[in-house]
Amino acid sequence: SHAYPFYGPGPQAGIATAPQRHVVYMTFDLTSENPRDLQVLLARWSASIAQIMKGEPISKVDPDRPDAGALDTGEALDLGPASLTVTVGLGPDLFEKTGLQAHRPAGLRPLKHLPGDALTPEISGGDLSLQACADDPQVAYHAIRVLARLAKSTGTASTRYAVMGFGRASAGKGQATPRNLLGFRDGTRNITSDADREAFVWTDEPGWGKGGSYQVMRKISMFIESWDTDQIDDQNAVFGRFKVSGAPLTGTQEFDTPDFTAQGPHGPVIPANSHISLAAHEHNDGLKILRRSYNYTDGINALGMLDAGLLFLSYQNTPEAFERLQTRLGAADRLNDYISHVASGVFYIPPAPAEGSYIGAQMF
Ligand code: HEM
Repeated sequence: SHAYPFYGPGPQAGIATAPQRHVVYMTFDLTSENPRDLQVLLARWSASIAQIMKGEPISKVDPDRPDAGALDTGEALDLGPASLTVTVGLGPDLFEKTGLQAHRPAGLRPLKHLPGDALTPEISGGDLSLQACADDPQVAYHAIRVLARLAKSTGTASTRYAVMGFGRASAGKGQATPRNLLGFRDGTRNITSDADREAFVWTDEPGWGKGGSYQVMRKISMFIESWDTDQIDDQNAVFGRFKVSGAPLTGTQEFDTPDFTAQGPHGPVIPANSHISLAAHEHNDGLKILRRSYNYTDGINALGMLDAGLLFLSYQNTPEAFERLQTRLGAADRLNDYISHVASGVFYIPPAPAEGSYIGAQMF
């Protein structure tokens, strides 16, 4: 099983990394406003993440003194690194709370209210985020579990909310395009080149944050029963693509370039209010974002309906890029009949620390 390095130079793993199969995503609230506590937590998290990404426990599971407890809880022993990446994010309010406002990245602020928002505050926001992705769900879960335990035991941060995702719904370079829970290929026209990552993903923040990225999290619930009654040609029109092949409605192969100018008897062949027409860079002054989403399920809801959707995760060099796209989609996208944005978060992802250092060390 593959191991990714945690330490830099370069950005943190888990953004440009080819998406693994599973994610556990968790956010935290600070319970201490002392910057020293945050410093210790970031240092301990960093050292622990470096360890577990190698497939090694953060301490002996079976301590020398049998009457002692252990930091590592043991459930990932023998599972290997499983391509684990743990990506640490810093929330907008963290800097003021800890008196570190001089270090807040320029673009970091809560997202503005966007059309289509149906957000539940309790599962939105947060001061810290952890995105653990792995090819083995238990390895991802173990990572979050031991890191949450460290946060709590030091009295620095408490858990806020979590989303467990299975089945990547985005593709990296060379990966086959997977399907989201609406049955469509997701990630066909995603960012895969270094040039696009330079232009749209990594920030140019002055100082310590340079080369990081902004993470946007949206928990998007799907009205699955309703979608499943929709006829297939209508589903195709919602996205502007064919369900099985993933080809644009103007093509036959998945990677054919959509022709947004082609006209049919009732207007554009790819409808103007289809998801891809509204989101395409051709219609947004060239704007692109890196999508790295996962399918999630929370079982069934109070009405007995399937409670599932997309844990949408995107990376961009300014949160404004996401806001611009979602402003268009939220207002007009035909997909809105079948989805609802129920949670939201925005976090700064600082660059990876150098070996022996830790995330955000330059702030202290
Ligand atoms: C494209 C699904 C939400 C931005 C696509 C495609 C699918 C899809 C199937 C076509 C394949 C591809 O190129 O990846 C979904 C679903 C969503 C969702 C099921 C919600 C549950 C969003 C949101 C945004 C977004 C919230 C950003 C605000 C994009 C972009 C493209 C895209 C930029 C590429 C369009 C192009 O250039 O052709 N999405 N999406 N999507 N989506 Fe979404």
